Amino acid sequence: MNNTQLKNVTDIFKHHFDGVEPQVVCAPGRVNIIGEHTDYNGGHVLPCAINYQTLISFSPREDNQIHIIAADYDNQHDSFNISDNIAFNEDTFWSNYIRGVVSVMAQRYPNLVGVNMVISGDVPQGAGLSSSAALEVGIAKVISEVSSLALSNQTLAQLSQQAENEFVGCQCGIMDQLISASGHADHVLLINCETLATAPISLPDNSAVLIVNSNVKRGLVDSEYNTRRQQCEAAAKHFGVTLLCDIDIDTFEAGKQGLDDIEFKRARHVVYENQRTLDAADALSKGDIKALGDLMRASHASMKDDFEITTPEIDYLVDVLNEAIGDNGGARMTGGGFGGCVVAVLPSEQVTSVCELIESRYLQKTGIKESIYLSKACQGVHVL
Ligand code: GLA
Repeated sequence: MNNTQLKNVTDIFKHHFDGVEPQVVCAPGRVNIIGEHTDYNGGHVLPCAINYQTLISFSPREDNQIHIIAADYDNQHDSFNISDNIAFNEDTFWSNYIRGVVSVMAQRYPNLVGVNMVISGDVPQGAGLSSSAALEVGIAKVISEVSSLALSNQTLAQLSQQAENEFVGCQCGIMDQLISASGHADHVLLINCETLATAPISLPDNSAVLIVNSNVKRGLVDSEYNTRRQQCEAAAKHFGVTLLCDIDIDTFEAGKQGLDDIEFKRARHVVYENQRTLDAADALSKGDIKALGDLMRASHASMKDDFEITTPEIDYLVDVLNEAIGDNGGARMTGGGFGGCVVAVLPSEQVTSVCELIESRYLQKTGIKESIYLSKACQGVHVL
């Protein structure tokens, strides 16, 4: 928990809302160890929630107004009425994640209670670490609390995903919202994105999860993302299934003739990645870090060559990390792609030397300075 951030959201709240002592919700970002672009294909993913989070201080109101202050945007504010037709706000883009979640919840649950909120987060934005899912899930939790809805973590995640799909306009899968809602401390979560069944798997004691942000500005993410999704749907249709992960590798290999070149490559990534994710969960359960590392490297190669979502800077980072880590773990790009972050699993005692290596090489090679985060697997959304 970031104590400065906590003090900040509490102090700003009291200052703006008549000295009232607020409650605080904490919703984490996430890093995905393996299983990329499998979620919306009904496959498996293996993420953990991280120790970078959105904090929301809040207290209920007696009317049905929502008042929000964004501490990280110079205390910009937005307000709207729950019973109105909640519209997209062109002026404050950040507030659309909140408007989206409240709008989706208001359609499903009548008589929601109004709320005052102050928001602040330290999940790096636009880095593929799910800052928007953390915000959405945090808001859903606040609304659930003030309106005494007692919603499950799964429902909070589904409402948040619906807001992102329908209100914000990104056709994302369920992974980010579900792990932000349901993360387990010290564990990754194997999620079956078709049934939403989850299984926690502990991380070996002596291993570290390192995140390196390439700081490559992600461009055209939503449109490229939505295009990949359409290509996967077209490939699924070829196999006569709704979700591509309903076929296994043998079915893919037996039926691949007739796919066009792009659909073939997209489908090959997804079907093999789904199997790699199951194998990685198995390897982690057995503490087999070498096998996990090999699967992470194969995943990266597939994202680079078949799904075509990496960038030269990301590929370089992954190469440097894999060379340094060797058989003691592995590295790959994490998240939706087109920039963002790389994740590595490695022995804790190697962290310092690996960070030094990245610091000595990345800026020199690319002209961009990386950011490095040593992450810890954390609990999902909760009231502090
Ligand atoms: C983004 C989406 C997720 C998932 C990943 C890729 O983070 O929000 O639903 O599809 O990309 O694995």
